[in-house]
Amino acid sequence: MSKSDVDLDDVEQLAEIDASGMLGVLERFPEQLREALEIGRSEVGLPEAGGISSAVVLGMGGSGISGAAVAAPSAHEIKVPVLTVNGYRLPALVDENSLVFAVSYSGNTEETLACVDQALSRNARLVAVTSGGRLAEIAAERDLPLFKVPVGYQPRAALGYLFIPILASLERMGLISGMVRKVSAAADMLEERSREYSVRTPLDDNPTKRLASDLVGYLPVIYGSEGPLAVAAMRWKTQFNENSKVPAFYHWFPELNHNETVGWQHLEEIGSKCHLIVLREKPEQSRIRKRIEITMDLIKDSVGHITQVCARGDNPIEVLLDLIYFGDFTSVYLALALGQDPTPVTRIEELKRRLAADPG
Ligand code: F6R
Repeated sequence: MSKSDVDLDDVEQLAEIDASGMLGVLERFPEQLREALEIGRSEVGLPEAGGISSAVVLGMGGSGISGAAVAAPSAHEIKVPVLTVNGYRLPALVDENSLVFAVSYSGNTEETLACVDQALSRNARLVAVTSGGRLAEIAAERDLPLFKVPVGYQPRAALGYLFIPILASLERMGLISGMVRKVSAAADMLEERSREYSVRTPLDDNPTKRLASDLVGYLPVIYGSEGPLAVAAMRWKTQFNENSKVPAFYHWFPELNHNETVGWQHLEEIGSKCHLIVLREKPEQSRIRKRIEITMDLIKDSVGHITQVCARGDNPIEVLLDLIYFGDFTSVYLALALGQDPTPVTRIEELKRRLAADPG
């Protein structure tokens, strides 16, 4: 039973709380995917494809998750390592044979710009993905390929624009195949979901509103499993943080069976305030299915609630996008149930302002 005073079926009340229109952006996400494919097709003069020994995706936060969102669905096909760098320093293996995507929605994120400097000095094959800022300037000065994405979004709400052009580039450069077609099919699939999760679909028929309502007063803990489901779990966690403004944690099978499964034994009061969300898929690897079932049985009395969400989709990119879409809506409805505008992230902005004022 929800402890919220907000009626998630009161479209007008929700529009007032959602002052910056995050729900509208989310409803248009399938369109964003199609536009992102167009951006990925644009003639940007991609680097030489021969001899590439690694692919690297640089970025932080809502831009940074692009790396994981590229790596997981390509993992069983791509023959070079795909590294994600979410920090200030490039690993030593990045050199002139590395294909490096620098992703920063604003173009001004200092960690990403620091890595861009290092990539330039190592003559890496750099590609920029941004809406503008310093990164767009560097791309113009250095004549780098640039995927220019539309302005006016929160970075996390522009995820399609940020990572789909990378997948499209890897395909154009012959490192993966069939991905553009699969993303296009996924956009059609999400079109249907966008009606199911819409603000106009009442709570009884809308699983994202229902889950959001059940999360009020609880700390979300999200479990995925190795591959796309772990990336989706990370995205759910960060969307609960940035949209709903609540703490949230995530982990994935099988790794969590070697540590976190034990960690629910104490602090019972905190455990009882946790709502565990287990992301699943069909078909599921049989060993993962057994682990999930045994784990839920072992910890069911240590957490307040358990909800399972099963991905729909026929391939890893569909599964990833399906779960991301479900989690994005849930996090926005949770924000609204808490009377919170999902869009602003004032603490991130304040932190960036204070860091910029003290460049030492
Ligand atoms: C804000 C958001 C943040 C930013 C991050 C990096 O919506 O998602 O996590 O993505 O602070 O900034 P950008 O994306 O501009 O490089």
